[in-house]
Amino acid sequence: MSILITGGAGYIGSHVLKQLLEDTEHHIIVVDNLSTGHQDTLDTLRAMRSFEFIALDLKEFDRVDNLFKEYKVETIIHFAASIVVPESVANPLKYYMNNTVNTTNLINCAIKHGVKKFIFSSTAAVYGEPISLPKEGIDESYPTNPINPYGMSKLMSERVLQDAQKAHSEFKYVIFRYFNVAGADIHYQDEKLEPRIGQSFPNATHLIKIAAECAVGKREKMYIFGEDFDTHDGTGVRDYIHVDDLANAHIKAIEYLEHNASDIFNVGYGEGYSVKEVIETMKKVTNNDFTVNIAPRRAGDPAMLISNNAKIKTKMNWQPKYDTLELIINSAYAWEKKLG
Ligand SMILES: NC(=O)c1ccc[n+]([C@@H]2O[C@H](COP(=O)([O-])OP(=O)(O)OC[C@H]3O[C@@H](n4cnc5c(N)ncnc54)[C@H](O)[C@@H]3O)[C@@H](O)[C@H]2O)c1
Repeated sequence: MSILITGGAGYIGSHVLKQLLEDTEHHIIVVDNLSTGHQDTLDTLRAMRSFEFIALDLKEFDRVDNLFKEYKVETIIHFAASIVVPESVANPLKYYMNNTVNTTNLINCAIKHGVKKFIFSSTAAVYGEPISLPKEGIDESYPTNPINPYGMSKLMSERVLQDAQKAHSEFKYVIFRYFNVAGADIHYQDEKLEPRIGQSFPNATHLIKIAAECAVGKREKMYIFGEDFDTHDGTGVRDYIHVDDLANAHIKAIEYLEHNASDIFNVGYGEGYSVKEVIETMKKVTNNDFTVNIAPRRAGDPAMLISNNAKIKTKMNWQPKYDTLELIINSAYAWEKKLG
């Protein structure tokens, strides 16, 4: 029985692959078209133990179908997607095709070939711009209202999964709605943090990645978009989760689906940090200064987005290990330095 990881050469998929290689004995097949994922990452992980890699684009429906004829896949962990929000506004059909249509085909193949478990990367972007944030954070029953094609392409995929499951009871899913994923492989060598893998997305739009690029001198400056939000220091507040903690939730989900029904879970720490706090922490822990300019708010940026993570903690017994901003930032910085 095999586990199929789509998008396993990408940022989050590679951290899940790492944990599966290190902590389990499952037979693993990675498929990726290497559009934003990296062969180097796969080569690094192959040193841990072997796995299959198939260079394939999920839009090649015949090849996807054939793959299930060749391997007996029990579980799919589906990361492959296009992920840049502004690009989704400029080119929505790319997002509906790559995210929703290709996911629908994958689900169709999964059901046709008797796959039992499907773990899906969704996003807090499905909640859109929350009108009023509950004190205890956004829980999974909060109304969904995506405000860009990226978020909508994910919500539509969630719905396809839910409807497919209702008609095929032997097929089960876990939908994870990630909050802001950051940091890199927590790996120490000679007591020094030395990530082996991390985020190498070209032209990244993620705040911690951009701040790390400034700290290592790859970027001259960065921007804070809006300092007039209704938050404690006027800048946007987000829930940052370390990628290794997020990865661990996927390992738990495989076991969870053995004995439990399909469900949706937020994955975040339930704590928020402002843009200013993130930048100040980056400067402090790396002992580097860099220029930060203030720019107007961007359309569709909510003031605050913080998860309520009670459900995953209680039902899946998931416990974060790396929930300090300093560690997230230190690992992102160490990885950025290694990238050179
Ligand atoms: N990074 C975040 O903060 C974040 C937040 C919420 C949700 N997510 C979701 O997590 C998942 C992984 O995101 P990531 O940050 O690792 O992005 P990433 O771009 O690093 O990884 C995506 C991987 O999928 C591959 N891919 C894309 N389209 C493909 C296709 N048609 N066929 C085969 N391979 C394809 C890419 O080459 C890449 O390796 C995505 O589904 C994304 O929507 C990410």
